[in-house]
Amino acid sequence: MSINPFSLEGKTVLVTGASSGIGRETAIRVSQMGGTVVVVGRNRGRLEDTFAALEGTDRVHRQVVCDQTNEEDLERLIDGIPQLDGVVQCAGTSVLFPFQFSTREKYDRVFEVNFFSTVELLRLLYKKKKISNGGSVVLIASVGGTTVFDTGNGVYGASKAALVSTMKFCAKEFAKKRIRVNAIAPGRVHTPLIESGTMTDEQIRMDEAKYPLGRYGEPADVAHGVIYLLSDAAAWVTGAMLVIDGGLSI
Ligand SMILES: NC(=O)c1ccc[n+]([C@@H]2O[C@H](COP(=O)([O-])OP(=O)(O)OC[C@H]3O[C@@H](n4cnc5c(N)ncnc54)[C@H](OP(=O)(O)O)[C@@H]3O)[C@@H](O)[C@H]2O)c1
Repeated sequence: MSINPFSLEGKTVLVTGASSGIGRETAIRVSQMGGTVVVVGRNRGRLEDTFAALEGTDRVHRQVVCDQTNEEDLERLIDGIPQLDGVVQCAGTSVLFPFQFSTREKYDRVFEVNFFSTVELLRLLYKKKKISNGGSVVLIASVGGTTVFDTGNGVYGASKAALVSTMKFCAKEFAKKRIRVNAIAPGRVHTPLIESGTMTDEQIRMDEAKYPLGRYGEPADVAHGVIYLLSDAAAWVTGAMLVIDGGLSI
C-alpha cells in the first residue's frame, strides 16, 4: 500500500468528458497516480485516443461512448460500469450571449448538458449504489457564475452555479455513507472549449493579462486539484468549491 496520501492506487474512477480538454488530462493523470479509469465521452475516436494514453497495463481501464443527455445511453453506462471509488464530472458545454438574447431555448440547451444530465448521472450512480462508501465525487463547475460574473456568461454561469448548489446538498446527504462531494471552479483553461469560441487570439491575450498569475490555466492545473479531491489526502473535505483560477477572483 502506498504511503503517498495523494495516491489513487486501488481506486476505480469514472471520468466523463474524457474525450477532450480537462477530462482527458484528468483521466490520464488519474491513471498515472495508480487509479483504474472508466473514460466516458461522446466522440468515439477522441475517446479512443484518451484510452490509448492511459498508463498501467496491469489495470483494466474501460471506455464507454455515451451522450449524457440520452436516457438510454445513461442507463447503459450505469449498468455496465464497475463499483466506483471516484466520479469526476467534466462533460460540459459553453455559450456566450448578452442577456437580451438569452432565450429559454438557450438556457435549456446549456442546462441539459451542464446541469440536468450531470445531476441525473450522479443520482443514478448513488441510487444504484455504484459509488462505494468512502468514495469521492468531483464536479467541474467554473468561476463563471460563482465568483466571476462577466457580461455574456449568464446562461453558462447559472448552469454552473446550480451545479455548485446541488453539490452542497449532495455532500450533506451522501455523508452518511462517507461519500464526499466537492466541486472545482476553474478560471479559463486552454482547451477546445475556449479555443473554438468567439474570442480572437488578440482578445484571449488581453484577457489572459487580467490573471494575477499572468496566464490561463492548463488542463493539468485542474487535473491536479481533482487528484487531491479524489485522494485520501482530502478525506475530511466535503461540500467545498476549490477555486483554481490563477488568482482571477481575488
Ligand atoms: N476550458 C475552460 O476555460 C473551463 C473553465 C471553467 C470550467 N470548465 C468546465 O470544464 C469542463 C471541461 O471543459 P473543457 O474545457 O475540457 O471542454 P472540452 O475540451 O470542450 O470538453 C468537453 C467534454 O464534454 C463532453 N460532452 C459535451 N457534451 C456532452 C454530452 N452531451 N454527453 C457526453 N459528453 C459530452 C465532450 O465530449 P465529446 O468531445 O466527445 O463530444 C468533451 O469530452 C466543462 O464542464 C467546462 O464547463 C472549463
